[in-house]
This record gives sequence, C-alpha cells and structure tokens, in this order.
Amino acid sequence: MEEWEALEQACHQCHNCPLANTRTNVVVGVGDRHADVLFVGEGPGENEDLQGEPFVGRAGQLLDEMLSLIGLYRDKNFYITNVVKCRPPQNRNPVNEEMKACRGFLDRQIQLLQPKVLICLGRFAAQELIRPDFGITREHGIWSLGEDGIWKIAIFHPSALLRDEFKRPATFQDLRAIREKIREVCPQVYANIKAPF
Ligand code: URA
Repeated sequence: MEEWEALEQACHQCHNCPLANTRTNVVVGVGDRHADVLFVGEGPGENEDLQGEPFVGRAGQLLDEMLSLIGLYRDKNFYITNVVKCRPPQNRNPVNEEMKACRGFLDRQIQLLQPKVLICLGRFAAQELIRPDFGITREHGIWSLGEDGIWKIAIFHPSALLRDEFKRPATFQDLRAIREKIREVCPQVYANIKAPF
C-alpha cells in the first residue's frame, strides 16, 4: 500500500501541466486497489474537481447504476480513474500535452493494479489505451487482448448516454459482454457479490 500512497502524494503535488493552476483537487482515482477490473474515463468535471473523486456527478450516477446491473461496485470490486487527473477548465477536452503530462500516473496505476480487464469510458481513454485512431461509434464493445495481457474494451462515455438515449441499448449489450469476460477471465470478481446480476 505504501506504493499507492507514494503515487497519490506525487499526484497531489504535481505541477507537470497548467491544469494544476486551475484545479481545486487532484482526482487520483477510487476503488479496490486489488481489483481485477479497471475503468478509465477522460478527466474530472466540476463535481469531481470539488469532491476529489471520479465520476460523482450525473454521468457518474448513471455509470454506477449501470454497473450495479452487472454486479460491479466501486467500493467492492473495481477501481476507477481518468486519463487526466485534474479538471480541464469549463469541462473542455484535455489536450495532448495534458494527457502526456499525466500518462505516467495512469501507467503507474495500471502497473500497481495489474488488472485483467480494462474498460475505457469514451473515445479519449480508448485512443490513449487501445489505439490512437480508435473510433468509439465503430469499435465500442470489441475486445482486444493487449501485449500486456490485459483484455481491453471501450464503451460509450456515460455523458454521451445522458445526451443521447439511443446509445443506451448498445451500451447494455456491451455491459453484458463485460460481465461475461469477467466471468471467463477473473470470476473471483463476483465471489462476494449477491446474485442476480
Ligand atoms: N467524466 C469523466 O470522464 N471523468 C469523470 O471523473 C467525470 C466525468
């Protein structure tokens, strides 16, 4: 756990990019530090910046509700973080230099966690962690096994689901695929979770 504390401290002290000047809190990540399942979003929004926790606004509430349907809970069996740990002002998209400046923290989180399954929430995380030209509309729900041995998939970002309800059925199908992959490669994720899901 000391390694996690060191990582958290380094994040909190970070001034590697200009987002440090406008943040309220660094949003490092939350969840089970032994989890086999990792979710990665884009970057903190206003609520996350104020509370220091990822996905606590409307999009986060929707995400938690959807994940509970496949037996996943942030306090029990997954870890969740973002590509950038500080809020881009006005919720604009993070720029390349910001993502690059933050990448070492994400890599360290992946190294410490050693997840079996990694789920990218939206295009930014997918382009960072799966392939630079990843197309979320075309390629959501498709598994790839990385050279690092981690199964990776991307689903629509929950903010996109709030904007466009017609994307939800596809996401429910992707969530079922995630549940099946977990049952296949790391069934212990569900060991202490009550059915049905
Ligand atoms: N959107 C993200 O990508 N991450 C958060 O933490 C909140 C909203």
